[in-house]
Amino acid sequence: MYKIAIIPGDGTGPEVVREGLKVLKAAASKFKIDFEFTDFPFGGEHYMKTGETLPDSALQELRKFNAIFLGAIGHPDVKPGILETQILLKLRFSLDQYINLRPVKLYPNVETPLANKKPEDIDFVVVRENTEDLYIGSGGFLRKDTPQEVAVQEMIATRFGVERCVRYAFEYARKRNKGKKLTLCAKTNVLIYAHDLWWRTFQEVAKEYPDVKTDYAHVDATTMWMVKNPEWFDVIVTTNMFGDIITDLGAMIQGGMGIAAGGNINPQGVSMFEPIGGSAPKYTNQNVINPLAAVFAGQMMLETLGEAKAAAAIEKSAIGVIGRMKSQAAGKMGFSTSQIGDMVAEGL
Ligand code: IPM
Ligand code: MN
Repeated sequence: MYKIAIIPGDGTGPEVVREGLKVLKAAASKFKIDFEFTDFPFGGEHYMKTGETLPDSALQELRKFNAIFLGAIGHPDVKPGILETQILLKLRFSLDQYINLRPVKLYPNVETPLANKKPEDIDFVVVRENTEDLYIGSGGFLRKDTPQEVAVQEMIATRFGVERCVRYAFEYARKRNKGKKLTLCAKTNVLIYAHDLWWRTFQEVAKEYPDVKTDYAHVDATTMWMVKNPEWFDVIVTTNMFGDIITDLGAMIQGGMGIAAGGNINPQGVSMFEPIGGSAPKYTNQNVINPLAAVFAGQMMLETLGEAKAAAAIEKSAIGVIGRMKSQAAGKMGFSTSQIGDMVAEGL
């Protein structure tokens, strides 16, 4: 039996989580998988009511689960930086989810803003380092609120953190067995310390994977190739900050935030799966948001748990549903949020 922690979170999070769970339950009954779901209240609403973000006691409890299924964290009435660092990043860091796995895949019948690009052209995976870099909150202010103010935010790369991420990416490219090509995306021409470490680590680990081709692209060039020649990419490995940025671009070229899902992976521990679109406050409680990103997050969760057949069935059913939808954009799908969930579940 799999024990799954559910954090529906804010905005449209609970709506898309509901549909994701509907599909997971349908898959469970078809493939004889046993789930036990436990809800946790954390998010902006809970914070405004109680002042609590993510207490350490909850973190301890979450360690006992097989996986976490997250909706969205973010609230328009909470100052930026509080919920993000004290809930989302705290989960990623404390549970040592050192990989953020973000597939960029254009499904048939999904519109991409890239002219003349087809599903066979847009199918790659970004392996984003998820525990270091500019994200760890190292730095501070000097002489704050004076004309002489100094703000420092440090970019941290450790040999340990970079190597485990790079190694994961090589293994992933090998297992994926598509182009068997791994591209390092960094900025070695400017970040001459942190990204020199990335570069050297990448070259060294590559020697253990002679069957995987290697490539390198600076991050600025990566955004250019993602638009011009996305078919060049198979697996991209990159830093936390650059991975954050290029995967929003990735989400757009695969058809938008309604589709894009990600996994925060600790291969030895508790992983967390989420639609990457955020809480979308303006669409909240209207039953118009696209739940497919949450459905695909559920698919990734099943894959990671080792339930490959059930995961593949969810993807197949979702592809069928996409074929009947008018658009992937909120409010323009031709169906409501709950209808899409019903259709994917029925398709199973
Ligand atoms: C993401 C988000 C988060 C990030 C924010 C909400 C902290 O943009 O998951 O990509 O920057 O990692
Ligand atoms: Mn982001």
